[in-house]
Amino acid sequence: MAERVQACTPCHGLQGRGTNDPYFPRLGGKPAGYLYNQLEAFKNGRRKYPPMNYLLAYLTDDYLRQFAEYFSDQRPELPKQNPPEVSKEVLDHGHALVTQGDLDRSIPACVGCHGGSLTGQAPGIPGLLGLRSSYISAQLGGWRYGTRTAKAPDCMQIVAGHLTENDVRAVAAYLATLSQPPGSAPSPAGSFALPFACGSQPDGGKQQ
Ligand code: HEC
Ligand code: HEC
Repeated sequence: MAERVQACTPCHGLQGRGTNDPYFPRLGGKPAGYLYNQLEAFKNGRRKYPPMNYLLAYLTDDYLRQFAEYFSDQRPELPKQNPPEVSKEVLDHGHALVTQGDLDRSIPACVGCHGGSLTGQAPGIPGLLGLRSSYISAQLGGWRYGTRTAKAPDCMQIVAGHLTENDVRAVAAYLATLSQPPGSAPSPAGSFALPFACGSQPDGGKQQ
């Protein structure tokens, strides 16, 4: 596997630790189910980024699962935070949306699904720590404009659809100020129920 993933290293770094490029995402330690869903989405065009779409077009499902397991098991060095310079008002707005949402505008709190400590929940919900603001805002934009879609019901499309450009800028900036504590990992499957259904997370995160 270490040999096969050399094709991924120029953009995702050794063990999927990320690179200095502000847009190439880190992969190491993300939930395996989440990574697999992304590889499948790039393969079938549900998520669009041409270099990834071409690279995965002819790989088998089994291969995609092996990539997902490999990167999920890696525990590379944590990324150095490089938060954007924005005002305290912007960060406060981001903090409020992440922790409480804005019920008057139908925006759910991000912690409701990504977890109180924002480390995600296995198998399908990623953590939101240690990501860069340009990557986060591009992903939220992708959902708003339809270049990124997840399995139906696509709960993130609903969430992102309620966010304005200002909201996106604020949550992306705020999240990018948070670092990922060493040893943090996604919560086990079923450890908390989601506020509404996500196709990427079977059984709505409820206890079995
Ligand atoms: C040319 C650079 C490049 C190469 C090579 C590359 N990737 Fe990517 N990958 C990206 C970028 C950029 C994104 C984010 C794309 C987007 O959504 O806009 C991405 C996204 C991903 C994601 C989703 C990450 C997330 O958190 O949602 C996975 C999983 C992934 N790549 C796996 C791989 C694997 C496995 C390989 C090797 C077989 C690989 N990539 C090779 C650039 C690359
Ligand atoms: C109802 C549950 C739910 C809520 C609420 C929610 N998310 Fe998500 N989020 C998900 C799921 C599920 C995924 C994975 C989707 C997929 O498979 O591509 C995700 C993925 C993401 C990603 C992609 C991460 C990556 O590495 O590419 C970002 C960014 C994100 N969410 C941000 C947010 C923000 C910001 C909020 C609050 C405004 C929020 N989410 C609220 C369920 C939720």
